[in-house]
Parts: sequence; C-alpha cells; structure tokens
Amino acid sequence: MEALCFTPHVTFRHNDVTKRKRSVTVTATVLRTPQKQSQSPSPATSPVLKVSPASLQYESGHLGAVPDHKVEECDGALSEMEYLTNILSSNRVYDVAIESPLSLAPKLSERLGVNVWLKREDLQPVFSFKLRGAYNMMAKLPKEQLEKGVICSSAGNHAQGVALAAKTLGCDAVIVMPVTTPRIKSDAVKRLGATVELVGDSYDEAQAYAKNKGEKENRTFIPPFDHPDIIMGQGTVGMEIVRQMQGPIHAIFVPVGGGGLIAGIAAYVKRVSPEVRIIGVEPADANAMALSLHHGKRVVLDQVGGFADGVAVKEVGSETFRLCRELIDGVVLVSRDAICASIKDMFEEKRSILEPAGALALAGAEAYCKFYGLKDINVVAITSGANMNFDRLRLVTELANVGRQREAVLATFMPETPGSFKQFAELIGKMNITEFKYRYESPEKQALVLYSVGLHTKFELQSMVERMESYQLKTIEFTNNDMVKDHLRHLMGGRTNVENELLCRFVFPERPGALMKFLHAISPRWNISLFHYRAQGEMGANVLVGIQVSSSELDEFRYHATNLGYEYELETDNEAFQLLMR
Ligand SMILES: Cc1ncc(COP(=O)(O)O)c(C=O)c1O
Repeated sequence: MEALCFTPHVTFRHNDVTKRKRSVTVTATVLRTPQKQSQSPSPATSPVLKVSPASLQYESGHLGAVPDHKVEECDGALSEMEYLTNILSSNRVYDVAIESPLSLAPKLSERLGVNVWLKREDLQPVFSFKLRGAYNMMAKLPKEQLEKGVICSSAGNHAQGVALAAKTLGCDAVIVMPVTTPRIKSDAVKRLGATVELVGDSYDEAQAYAKNKGEKENRTFIPPFDHPDIIMGQGTVGMEIVRQMQGPIHAIFVPVGGGGLIAGIAAYVKRVSPEVRIIGVEPADANAMALSLHHGKRVVLDQVGGFADGVAVKEVGSETFRLCRELIDGVVLVSRDAICASIKDMFEEKRSILEPAGALALAGAEAYCKFYGLKDINVVAITSGANMNFDRLRLVTELANVGRQREAVLATFMPETPGSFKQFAELIGKMNITEFKYRYESPEKQALVLYSVGLHTKFELQSMVERMESYQLKTIEFTNNDMVKDHLRHLMGGRTNVENELLCRFVFPERPGALMKFLHAISPRWNISLFHYRAQGEMGANVLVGIQVSSSELDEFRYHATNLGYEYELETDNEAFQLLMR
C-alpha cells in the first residue's frame, strides 16, 4: 500500500468559490514519527544529542566527516584481529549468498575517466547483501537456541535476509513489520516461510514489540546492523573485493544506514590493504553517520529523509560507530537527484534497476571522482540492493536527468500581451523543452511559465537565461528546489493571494486513516486552501498543504500540528511558493 487511501494524484487549490469548512471534533494523538532500523537508546547517563541533518552539509563529492581515528577501549569489544580472522572463516555465509561479481561499468568509466567497478550485491538471492550478516549470526547460534526460533523487526531487506536464513537453517522466524509496510514486502517475507506480524505505525514500535516478544518466547533477536556477527557477515563483501580486484584500489564506496556494511568492509580491508580508502556514502538528508563522526559520538537525527529507505536511519549502531570512527576515511553526501541519476546510469550500463539505497555508493563514487578531478584510478562502488518499489520509478525517472544536470527547471515572467509567448519561444531557441506549464491569470499581472529544458552543457543554460533577461523576461532557476519538483510543478494553475495562508509540508504515514486524522485535527478549525499529494513510494507521503491561519492563532495551530504527530515544516517563506503561487 504505497498511496494514502485516496486518489494518488490529488490536487486542490483554494479559490473563493470553493470554501471548505468542516465541523468535525478535533482529535489529536501523538504518534512517533517513522524511524527505520534505529538502535536501542543510549544509556540514560549519556544524554543523546539530537541534531538536524541540515546542521552538517557540504558540497556533493567532498570527503567530509573525516573521523579522528580514535581507538576506543571498550570492555568486551572484539579486537581487530578477531574481526579479521572471523571474517576469513565466515564460509558458511556461502550456504545462502553468492560470491557476487565485481564488474566494470564501461560507459560510466569512459565518461568519468576512471575505472568504476561495481560490486553486484544486487544480484544476491533476495536482492541485497543483508542475508550475509543475518545468516552469519544465525548459523553461529547454538542448536538449542536456534530451535527456540528467531525474531527481528524490519520493513526492508533485513526482513528478507532473516527469513531466507531461517528457511535455510530450518528454524522458525517471526518478522515484525510496521502496519504501514507495503503488501509486496510482507508477502515476499511470507513466501520465504516466515511468520509476519504487523505491529505499530513506526519501526520503533515494531522493534519494541519484537524485543519484548523475543524475551517472552526465548527467541533470539536478530538486529539489522549493530552486532559483531552481523558486521562480520557483511565484511565478507570486503574480503571478496580484495580477492577479486587485480589492480590497486583507490577507494571503496559503501552505502551507510546503521553502518553494518561499511564497518564489516573496513574491518577486513583496512587490515589487509590499509592504503585503500573506505568511503561512506549517505543521502544529504539521512546523514546520521556523518554527523556522529563529526561530533565524535553517536547522535540522533531529529528527522530523516525516507527516499533511500534502506538507509533511512536516525541513529547508527554503537559497535558500527566504534569501528567506523577508527577505520573509515570519511563520508560523501549526495542528493536525491544524484541517486536517481545513478539508478539511470546503472540501467543504461547493465539493464538492472537498483533501489535508491542500492545506487547510493555509485552516486557517491561519481561525485567524489568529479569533485577531486581524479583520473585513471580504480574505484569500487557497492551496488547494495535492487528491492525497488515499483511506484517510486515515476519519481526516479522525473529526477534522473536533473541529477545528471541534463535538465533544468525554470520559471520566466513575461507580459500578458499578444506576441510575448512567441518571443519567449524564440529566446528558448534550439533548446529542448521537456515540460511546460502556463495559465492565464489577469491582464494586470505578469504571466508566469514554469518549464524544464534539456541540457547538454551548463553554459547553454546560462546563455539562455541571459537572452531572457536581456528582453526583460525575468527568469529564475529552480532545479535544486525540491518543493518545486515534488509539488509546485504539478500544481501550477494560476496564482492566488489567499489571506493568511500558511504553507506546510507534512509527512503523512502511508496508511488508511492518515488523511482523516489530519483533517480531524486541522480542518474544522481552519480552512484548507491548497492540498497536493503525489504518491512517491516513500516511507511517508510528502504532502503540501495551504491553511488559512490568522497571526493571533499561530500558537494554537502549532499546538495542533505538533500534537498530530506527523513531521511537518513551515514553507510559507519558500521563495518558489511566493513567486509561483501568489
Ligand atoms: C540496499 C541497502 N543498502 C545499504 C544498506 C545499509 O546497510 P547498513 O545498515 O549496514 O549500513 C541497507 C540496509 O538495510 C540496504 O538495505
């Protein structure tokens, strides 16, 4: 179930004729926001620092969050040697996993002038590397413990990894998934013979339930990343790369969620080939590892971008952090658009479709090589998964060209007079228009067109904008404005100056009743003047809402919006909204 329970492409813009007032009682329930694969809270003695992803941003491709390489002395922590020898002897992983190919990406390599090698973990049974860690941990459980069964909580690849491992080992597995989990994912787990229990609205609630049930029924809880056996299982990816690669490796790019994969790869590779850089890649809005390394301790994100759902983690693991702090070389951050462009690159290269988290490392490798102008080196990117949510493909194709800077999104103002459209078209010249939106408003107002053009070079765009400006056609580029790409480009239909209009972006949980709950809380009290939702196959639905709230009621509004429990942000001052919609 990827759409909210209403039509997947809903657009409603206020006009004076359609005033909508509802008299429904306000009910506000506090819900915890969706959180995937977080770990148990840190001990009460050390309060966890809550930070926003925006508090650490740097240019795409730059190697940031370089750790202090501090070696923490922890009681009971495994030594470097223990990790190495255990990874070397993790042969049982191959009961379920294949030694995935390491293959050159010829087109991408030619374009970048470096050899880009793909470690094809997307070709594993269940289409991701996660079965390595899960199987490694479960295969080591004593027989009597295995007989009591295992339990885990996950809505993603870990669930399938645990289910397949349990099937292979002949043990009973319960997988707890949030009720919002798409049917396709719960069905895949059931098909592998595991019992699925749908519990809670968020990953947190599912995890708490799973741990509790595990204790009551003596089942072993299999965590998604923060356990030495999980880390060692994922470390076999590093062992294979070292064995498979013939020449010197400049860097291995690894997608980072909770940090299990990168910690395992680093634990092996840094011991046998310390000159190879181990570089983490995170989405700019899901940068829990970068922020933790930056602060020198684990932090919790106050919100996390859900597009690359496999790595949408608010808090990295404690053991994974300990290893990353000591061993990795830093973290590259990439945008959602760049991830989409890499999904397209992979499709053009191998005719395979990666899921967003699966293409993350490729996006990071490309950005890094461009940023540092590297040539004639070998880089390896882990293509970590292919469990693509089909509904998300629409957004991926929309953003892929923007991500590769092959398309720009623009707005141009022109006089509302006969002939100006023709003049505009002449100024566009030979450039290919890929999208165009215009609607008459009034003779007094300037006409506004929102459009996209295909690009060959950045210079092409600059000279077109200069041509427009020289004819007094004010032109603004919105290529990097996510609100324009997600909402406003689909909403354009004339500008209206609605009194006291607040613009908010809400993240609705994708489940029946989410819209009704929102309307119960907000609508009876205030008029809704704009509503736009477009299914993007994300963890939560990104909904843009305009609400008429007078300044004296702002505090009350904030109270209700916060109590609703959905993440939200005020966007009224977003330049694009002011220009395109008012
Ligand atoms: C496809 C994919 N890539 C990367 C990751 C991140 O792995 P980790 O949590 O070990 O950092 C995950 C985690 O589930 C994943 O499913």
